[in-house]
Amino acid sequence: MCGVIGYWCPEGFGEAFSVIVDSLKKLEYRGYDSFGIATINRSVLGVVRAVGKVSDSKCLPLGGSVGMGHTRWATHGGVSEKNSHPHRDCNNRLAVVHNGIIENFQELRIALELRGHILRSDTDTEVLPHLLEEALNLGMSIKDSVISVSKMLKGRNSFLVLDSLTSTLIASRNGSPLIVGVSDSSNEVFIASDIPAFLHKTNQVYYLDDGQVVILDKIPEFFDFTGVSINKRLITIPWKSEMISKGDYEHFMIKEIMDQKDSLISAINQNPEEIMRVAEEINNSHGVFFIGCGTAAKVCHIAEYIFSKVADKHINFVTASEFENYRHFLLPETLVIAVSQSGETADVLNALSVAKSKGSKIISIVNSPTSSMARISDYTFLINAGVEKAVASTKATTSQIAVVSLLAYACAGKLREGDRLLVELAGKVNDLLNPRYEERVKALADRLKDSENIFIIGRGINYPLALESAIKIMEVSYIHAQGFAGGELKHGPIALITRGTPVIALVADDDNAQEIISNAMEVKSRGALVIGISPENNPVFDYWLKTPKVNTVGSAIANLIPVQLLAYHLGIVKGFNVDYPRNLAKSVTVK
Ligand code: AGP
Repeated sequence: MCGVIGYWCPEGFGEAFSVIVDSLKKLEYRGYDSFGIATINRSVLGVVRAVGKVSDSKCLPLGGSVGMGHTRWATHGGVSEKNSHPHRDCNNRLAVVHNGIIENFQELRIALELRGHILRSDTDTEVLPHLLEEALNLGMSIKDSVISVSKMLKGRNSFLVLDSLTSTLIASRNGSPLIVGVSDSSNEVFIASDIPAFLHKTNQVYYLDDGQVVILDKIPEFFDFTGVSINKRLITIPWKSEMISKGDYEHFMIKEIMDQKDSLISAINQNPEEIMRVAEEINNSHGVFFIGCGTAAKVCHIAEYIFSKVADKHINFVTASEFENYRHFLLPETLVIAVSQSGETADVLNALSVAKSKGSKIISIVNSPTSSMARISDYTFLINAGVEKAVASTKATTSQIAVVSLLAYACAGKLREGDRLLVELAGKVNDLLNPRYEERVKALADRLKDSENIFIIGRGINYPLALESAIKIMEVSYIHAQGFAGGELKHGPIALITRGTPVIALVADDDNAQEIISNAMEVKSRGALVIGISPENNPVFDYWLKTPKVNTVGSAIANLIPVQLLAYHLGIVKGFNVDYPRNLAKSVTVK
């Protein structure tokens, strides 16, 4: 959700502010309703805060070589300067930036106010500097104060503290990710909620685990919540900063859609022995649950169809935020498979801790190799999609579908066949990622731009795909979009069809083709504008986006790409910021 960055370079020339601004721009995908920066300059704490995106702002710089910044996605308290981080204590000694939700903040706040503290914002975060102030007043060191306050908090939280009296930058992790980056010469040290914040400076990192604090120094010092010092391994991340740039594209979203030319091949490039080992676990388990949120949840839903079609196997898909309700089905022999681009989604992590508490085994299918999910799983499949920065997931989604398909083929003892089909599919998908096709989609976007609603229908595997298509269109174009199973239309939603209502029919070259065409005819007879995404044209279509002829499983990828392009061009033609849609954040690290 929010992005945090800390910067330490006492031998520098006071450039902390500009370094932090650069890092915040790179973290904007995590939250962009407001931002703030604090630095220490000659033992004096300076703070700037503003509403809006850091990349649009022209605030006056602060001096100092140590500091921190925050880009906010509001949870507690509206979007305003007073609610922007950093927050300070009563004496203006400390500044704090925070990512997470302090679930018990109300009781902490009431108690602080009764003890005479003046809190100026509506946030949960502001209790932190005041609690730290009290701990310091009791004579504790800054390290012990941070540990003691961390232990008072309920929920998933990480925070950074800047102490102007001791010129210390210290951070605590209990739930939300924090990574320390150290430059080659060790004269610059970073701490951030995600690696892109400092990847242009270093790829040498330490991972902070839950229940740990770090004091930023030339050599960062790590402690657990009992105050005992711990050793950590410095890891080299195999990423380059070019991987997180837009290149020649105008937006990350279109770049990432186009990246699918290569990302599918990278996704299926898995170790066959590992795939077979996990497939065996799936076949021998007592129940398999695929869990995820948002688009990843739709991939889990798609997985249900893929496993049934390819491996004759029933798997359960559950939206991660609802998973707790299924806890009584979990046994040590149950397998829980988490699907997530970021590997940091709070609802998925919570679901996984439920699974762990029941002794169930955890597999994750993630994009980020060093994410919390990857680190707590018994086995992790990396989808190798490369960094995905646009809030709307595109290449990660198709890569997740590809890995799920490989697993299903492996469960059926047909890994080689699956591999071959997916390689073929990747080749065919390339035909959709060319300027001529994009022009056609653009023309359609122009025609649909003033629509109030767009409906998407599909059957079989194209039903969950219709649900995912609706997410894509809604989040980028702000047009209300809804996906339905074709057969469900006449049980209610058809009442919404009037003259010109756009209905997208997702058609595959499979047993469902004829029936979904019949559903398209039903809406057409009520005046709908029918858009067919299909390998074959049909007279019922007012507009046709051709897709390659592939099998049912392949259609989950082939039919999705035109929808991704349509969502992108709808957002563009409507003049919206497609990479950072309103109210959304890339990585949802709060429940
Ligand atoms: C995708 O377009 C969405 N922005 C969102 O639904 C996303 O898929 C969801 O938040 C899950 O994220 P994850 O894959 O990082 O877990």
